[in-house]
Amino acid sequence: MAQLDGKSAIVTGGGQGIGRAYCLAFAQEGARVVVADLNGANAEAVAGEIADAGGSAIAVRADVGEPASVEAMAAAAREAFGGTDILLNNAAIFTTLGRCGFEDIPLEEWDRVMRVNVTGGMLCAAAVLPDMRAKKRGRIINVSSSTVPMGLPRFMHYVTSKSAVIGMTRVMARELGPDGITANAIMPGLIETEVENAGRTDAIREKMIEVQCLKELGRPGDLTGLAVFLASDASAYITGQTIAADGGSIHL
Ligand SMILES: NC(=O)c1ccc[n+]([C@@H]2O[C@H](COP(=O)([O-])OP(=O)(O)OC[C@H]3O[C@@H](n4cnc5c(N)ncnc54)[C@H](O)[C@@H]3O)[C@@H](O)[C@H]2O)c1
Repeated sequence: MAQLDGKSAIVTGGGQGIGRAYCLAFAQEGARVVVADLNGANAEAVAGEIADAGGSAIAVRADVGEPASVEAMAAAAREAFGGTDILLNNAAIFTTLGRCGFEDIPLEEWDRVMRVNVTGGMLCAAAVLPDMRAKKRGRIINVSSSTVPMGLPRFMHYVTSKSAVIGMTRVMARELGPDGITANAIMPGLIETEVENAGRTDAIREKMIEVQCLKELGRPGDLTGLAVFLASDASAYITGQTIAADGGSIHL
């Protein structure tokens, strides 16, 4: 039996990059997947890839920072798959962000990063809670970043948002544990995807390799095993944790 047989999962930001890899991995493990993304065409493409491989998926265009859009996403999951067992809060403003001193970050950009990267995860979790509570089981997986323990400079809005994700995960774990719902965070290191990253240079890549124990750059496939584990029954007694998958660049 596959690890996620009979489960339905929402992956936000599933239309590209690491989110796409989570969607494909969940589907491969038997989950029915809601590929949710602000970019609806990308979400459709990933849902199509899953269907072509014999899996089950729907695409939903959703803005995780907008409550009405998030409610519609949860309703779509209910209609297609009878609810949500697994929520992977992967959507974030990340690859499009440049780097600068915090005093130069436009306030509008700061606010948008917080709205999507922090508030978005909270809204998505709130929207699927009724489904999870009814089943007395659920898996919420949030996505932090190894830039947090590093305190990566010239990226304060992003790093601050990903710090908040850790606190949010711990509160979710405490509040939802009595309902049999776990909440954990994945902390990826530098992961190369098919998407160009506005803030990443070869010098940064070399520096990361230098501080990693394992001397290869991370790829989306280096995170999917952890995501499947945290979504599965195998992680039933693990909650409130932040687990780094970063080639050993930081040790929590
Ligand atoms: N790639 C890395 O090195 C790395 C490292 C640490 C953490 N992360 C985290 O992993 C996750 C995925 O990273 P990635 O490299 O694939 O990023 P990415 O920028 O390629 O993908 C982000 C996805 O989120 C979607 N998105 C953005 N705003 C949204 C919104 N308001 N509503 C719905 N969807 C929205 C985008 O359309 C995109 O498909 C992010 O949370 C990122 O912060 C990535």
